[in-house]
Amino acid sequence: MGLILGIDTSCDDTGIGLVERGSGRVRANVVASQTAVHAPYGGVVPERASREHLAHLRPVLDAAMRDADASLDDVEAVAATYGPGLIGALLVGLTWGKALAWGRDLTFVPVHHLEGHIASATFDGVQAPYLCLIASGGHTSLFRVDEEGARPTELGRSLDDAAGEAFDKVARLLGLPFPGGPALSELAAGGDPNAIPFTRPLRRQVGYDFSFSGLKTAVATLVERDPDVGRANVAASFEATVVDALLRTLARAARAEGLRTVVIAGGVAANRRLRAALRELDLDVRVPPPELTTDNGAMIALAARARMARGPLPPGWTQDAAPYAPLASTTPRASSYT
Ligand code: KG4
Ligand code: ZN
Repeated sequence: MGLILGIDTSCDDTGIGLVERGSGRVRANVVASQTAVHAPYGGVVPERASREHLAHLRPVLDAAMRDADASLDDVEAVAATYGPGLIGALLVGLTWGKALAWGRDLTFVPVHHLEGHIASATFDGVQAPYLCLIASGGHTSLFRVDEEGARPTELGRSLDDAAGEAFDKVARLLGLPFPGGPALSELAAGGDPNAIPFTRPLRRQVGYDFSFSGLKTAVATLVERDPDVGRANVAASFEATVVDALLRTLARAARAEGLRTVVIAGGVAANRRLRAALRELDLDVRVPPPELTTDNGAMIALAARARMARGPLPPGWTQDAAPYAPLASTTPRASSYT
């Protein structure tokens, strides 16, 4: 049948997806979440994550095969995330994927995690060139994609915390449970986004970078000084400032790059305020469905498919897990700030 099997174990979700090589149709996309395992610790415990991946991979594979009504005989290539991410977690999925491919004499394609997020854009036939903003717990990066399956250009990235990480840390400061993003967003819905005039990070820059740790410190200072400060107002004002920072930079990049199509990926794409603000932009904004914007295996298979479509690939067997792997060359940064 010509399926590509994609595996993602970069952090705390075990994802396996099956994509048709010919059409790009997602036939299955199963994710086993470990949130309940890590929640008591207030964050992901790397060693626990590795062990959970090992336990989940086989059942998740079986579930994906059931969903696709397929068997391993239908798989012609296996793709797995090699980085960036937690080293142990990456090693489990990468090694498991290699073993599966080797044992069945299949092509093996190592995929960069962000390449996967970018490829999730192809879900409804989005055509390059486009801009892709990835905002998750581990990354906040803005890419220009000129050709599917080719190296994108990174226009900017977070200089410190990722957007989702900032949501999680501020949620913790406000006494909300892990993972904090959705809980903070819920609390923000009942607050006034103009109540606290937080300074928008990097508001004077001419480049396309992001920064969220200063904002997090501003919230920490505020909460420490005034424990009775209205939590909903803090949440709403923080959320509004993050959304403003993301979208102003995105809109500026779209104008400068002469691109109208913009894809949003990563868990923060689920944020209600962000989604509402995106609708106000005069751009063709595509937000993949939640199962494709958060970490998953189908996006890894989609990335492998895009690369395979460009011609024969070098053998992937020697690609090791790379926790800090960069994806793309960046634009010069020295002149990015005024
Ligand atoms: O892409 P993802 O599922 O996993 C990675 O980090 O790779 O993203 C998870 C992140 C977490 O930081 C979570 O708090 C954030 O996305 N998030 C949200 C919302 N839902 C998830 N942040 C803000 N608002 C939300 N509704
Ligand atoms: Zn991710």
